[in-house]
Amino acid sequence: MTPLAGVTIDTAALRHNLQVIRRLAPKSRVMAVIKANAYGHGLVGAARALSTTDALGVARIDEGLALRAAGVETPIVLLDGVLDLEQLNAAAAAHFHLVVHNPEQVDMLGAAPPDVRLEVWLKLDSGMNRLGFKGEAFHAAHAALSRAAAVKSPVHLMTHLASADMPELPTTAEQLLEFAAATRGLPGERSVASSAALIGFPNAQADWVRPGLLLYGASPFRGSTGADHGLRPVMTLSSRIIAVKDLVAGDQVGYGGDWTATRPTRLAIAAIGYGDGYPRSAASGTPVLVNGEHAALAGRVSMDMMAIDVTDVQRLPKVGDPVVLWGEGLPVEEVAIWADTIPYTLLCGISQRVTTNWV
Ligand SMILES: Cc1ncc(COP(=O)(O)O)c(C=O)c1O
Repeated sequence: MTPLAGVTIDTAALRHNLQVIRRLAPKSRVMAVIKANAYGHGLVGAARALSTTDALGVARIDEGLALRAAGVETPIVLLDGVLDLEQLNAAAAAHFHLVVHNPEQVDMLGAAPPDVRLEVWLKLDSGMNRLGFKGEAFHAAHAALSRAAAVKSPVHLMTHLASADMPELPTTAEQLLEFAAATRGLPGERSVASSAALIGFPNAQADWVRPGLLLYGASPFRGSTGADHGLRPVMTLSSRIIAVKDLVAGDQVGYGGDWTATRPTRLAIAAIGYGDGYPRSAASGTPVLVNGEHAALAGRVSMDMMAIDVTDVQRLPKVGDPVVLWGEGLPVEEVAIWADTIPYTLLCGISQRVTTNWV
């Protein structure tokens, strides 16, 4: 049965994007970030498609355990580390690598049961003020972890950049200097760059890059698309038309009557809405593809439906015809601008009722 709202995940595009990343960062190993259900693409499917990556990055232990339960053997890094001893034991048993970012985690590792032994990434807070240690606390944590029997030597070193997608700001250069100063002379591998820095700050590529968005074929920079960087979109979100109707000038469309026909208008109703993860914030005029041709969203997005002005579409749409909301032929970055958001939220926001089809 053809789904009314479905995503197609292009395995070849995902693998192609990993190759592009390897070309962009030829000296680095790749930690493929597949947290949040691989940005909406499917956690296990993405891990399997990316079997040649050097490691996988997830935020939470549940994500890592789901991967192990599915038979994924690639090294897995828990980017948020663990919360308590139960999680620490489970992480050690699953051979996860841990990011350590707070004193509680350092203490836990110092007092860990004798069978716990794992690789650790110590996180410097170089200015984002989210996770990690600053200044002296970073060095104290490094010393304590280096003494801990549970921690494999050497401790690896990482930080996260707050504004690498805005290279015009001084912030990234400051963070990079901070990281270089704090880690000077320490052994261990280093990781700094996620997608934006991987492209925008090649000097931040270090031993490991941690791309998420680039893998999925989208650009982290406002105003550019993945194609500008040689990437291919992995997810195509599509729907089907369930009604076609003709309006006269002055007719209003949708909740709140937000959109008014200014001419005799042909409207197509597509069976997709915010209940599927399409953003309600998408403005009238947001591009969609109907039968492969550009058309425009008209009025407010409903839970299960949206209206599309197809007056200018050459091949007259009929019930059952396909609609593409983003992906092949329509960059998600473009839709994100119309919806006043970022491609990350659109990809991650795909809801459970949307059928996923890997090709
Ligand atoms: C610590 C860390 N590294 C890497 C990434 C991947 O970021 P991006 O998708 O921008 O490449 C994230 C995502 O938020 C992250 O939190």
